[in-house]
Formats: sequence, structure tokens, C-alpha cells
Amino acid sequence: MTASPTPRAQWDERFGSDGYLYGTEPNDFLRHHVEVLPPGQIMCLAEGQGRNAVFLAGRGYEVSSVDLSAAGVDKTLALAEARGVTVNATVADLADVDLGTNRWSAIVSIFAHVPPAVRADVHRRVADALIPGGCLC
Ligand SMILES: C[S@@+](CC[C@H](N)C(=O)[O-])C[C@H]1O[C@@H](n2cnc3c(N)ncnc32)[C@H](O)[C@@H]1O
Repeated sequence: MTASPTPRAQWDERFGSDGYLYGTEPNDFLRHHVEVLPPGQIMCLAEGQGRNAVFLAGRGYEVSSVDLSAAGVDKTLALAEARGVTVNATVADLADVDLGTNRWSAIVSIFAHVPPAVRADVHRRVADALIPGGCLC
């Protein structure tokens, strides 16, 4: 019997092909609400190939991102370089990534597809990781 591919392997395969699976423009909800994000540092969760992080960096935010897929992080860094912005993009699993405490002015979570138990735990950590008045988008 063959083992099923892990979620990481599946996302690496999807993101490893040419181009950007979800395009290079930001999510519409984020684009329409960017004005309400407080200034400061932003963390983008499950950021995929970087479209949202690069958009925010272009708006002057100091942006970090995490994703399970190394292929996605490579694309994030390539898109940031092409647009002349900086994104601190790293490979991490939302199940155990340390988001810190009282750190981010906003945390962006667009289509972060994780199992319900992981999602509930991430949301608890998000609450701790935002500064007072910070925003989850
Ligand atoms: C539908 S894509 C969304 C990508 C991006 N947020 C966007 O809007 O273009 C889902 C993303 O979740 C990531 N992901 C899935 N499980 C994850 C986990 N446990 N930890 C971190 N990222 C994860 C995948 O690698 C993929 O990039």
C-alpha cells in the first residue's frame, strides 16, 4: 500500500509548477480593508506564494509570513524581489509556530486551510500575539 502524500508534499507539488496558483494580486477582502490595518508589523499565516504579504509590504508594512510549503515560500521571496519589497517569509507549520506575545499590529489569515483543532489553537495564539487594538484579517 502506498502512503498518501502529506499536506506539505501536496502543497509543494501545487506551488512547484510555473506561475502563481492564486495569482500575484492580493485577496479582494484584504485589498478593500487594508486601510483599517494599524501601522506596524504584520504576520501573514499560511501565506502560500506571497500575494498578500507582498501587497502589504508595498503599502509600507513590515511583513512576515509563514507557510507549510517551502515551494510557496520560495515563490513569496521571488515575488517580493520582483516587486522590490521585503517579506520575512519562513517555512512553518501553524500547528506549532510561535507567534509571540503582544507583537503584531495585524495578523492576516486568508484561506488558511488547516484542520479544525489546529485552527482553534491558532486562533488562541493569535489573540495573544496581537498588540492591544491589533486586527485579525
Ligand atoms: C488555499 S492556500 C492560501 C494561500 C494564501 N493565503 C493566499 O491567499 O493566496 C492554503 C495555504 O495553507 C497552507 N497550509 C496548509 N496547512 C498549513 C499548516 N499546517 N501550516 C502552515 N500553512 C499551511 C498551504 O501550504 C497553502 O499555502
